[in-house]
Amino acid sequence: MAKITASVYTSHVPAIGAALDLGKSSDPYWQPLFKGYEPSKQWMKDNRPDVVFLVYNDHATAFSLELIPTFAIGCAAEFKPADEGWGPRPVPVVQGHPELASHIAHSVIQDEFDLTIVNKMDVDHGLTVPMSLMFGQPEAWPVKVIPFAVNVVQYPVPSGKRCFALGQAIRRAVESFDEDLNVQIWGTGGMSHQLQGARAGLINREWDNAWLDQMIADPQACSQVPHIDYVREAGSEGIELVMWLIARGAMADVAGGPKPTVKHRFYHVPASNTAVGHLILENN
Ligand code: DHB
Ligand code: FE
Repeated sequence: MAKITASVYTSHVPAIGAALDLGKSSDPYWQPLFKGYEPSKQWMKDNRPDVVFLVYNDHATAFSLELIPTFAIGCAAEFKPADEGWGPRPVPVVQGHPELASHIAHSVIQDEFDLTIVNKMDVDHGLTVPMSLMFGQPEAWPVKVIPFAVNVVQYPVPSGKRCFALGQAIRRAVESFDEDLNVQIWGTGGMSHQLQGARAGLINREWDNAWLDQMIADPQACSQVPHIDYVREAGSEGIELVMWLIARGAMADVAGGPKPTVKHRFYHVPASNTAVGHLILENN
């Protein structure tokens, strides 16, 4: 049986990828940020999964206003790093897991979540920056990845409640896959940031940390937070945080199991004009 062993949460700021790719990670501006991920890289070496189910959002790269899937699962054998305007990032091609992805699609759709199936897609910073933060700069990524894209760019976007319930369905799907696989689920994006308009640059350290406290301790209550709270308190792009609730919903305690252990928690401002949050929860 496949099993979800842990969940990882992290912001996916594109400038972090650029800093790594351009050899700037020890610059005074970036050093404190990358230092916060050192324990995570070690933890990842000690707890390497077979597959990462990676929840992220596409930033009008693979999709556009012409096509807006709310939830899209990547079932392909591989996914190339996207060209977001400066050429593709110099990172490895992502290897998928078509068998597990197809199984999850089948199970989750029968469980009443109508996913879009994607058999060809390039992946942008939403996916590749978390990979770089957790694995550094290897020749090849050491795990297989199932990309799971959520629309948090163009309204209407899914609610935290819907995302949390979807995470529970994903857990049931993974656990009904008939092969011993160690699976992690990652939620990416956030924390507070607004990239445009009169409130560009908004950072809300207090709200971010209170939200994180609740997301860890009482995810059910956290899933009830309405959209308007994210936008008002965490900025227009703070809404990316609903994706963390998909990963949280897939943890064992939500289905009546034991509480997870917090293995690492990190918060840092600024990276570009974003508050960076990071968390690792391990199932017991
Ligand atoms: C930026 C873009 C993102 O997608 C994000 O999640 C955070 C920051 C940016 O352009 O700075
Ligand atoms: Fe983003």
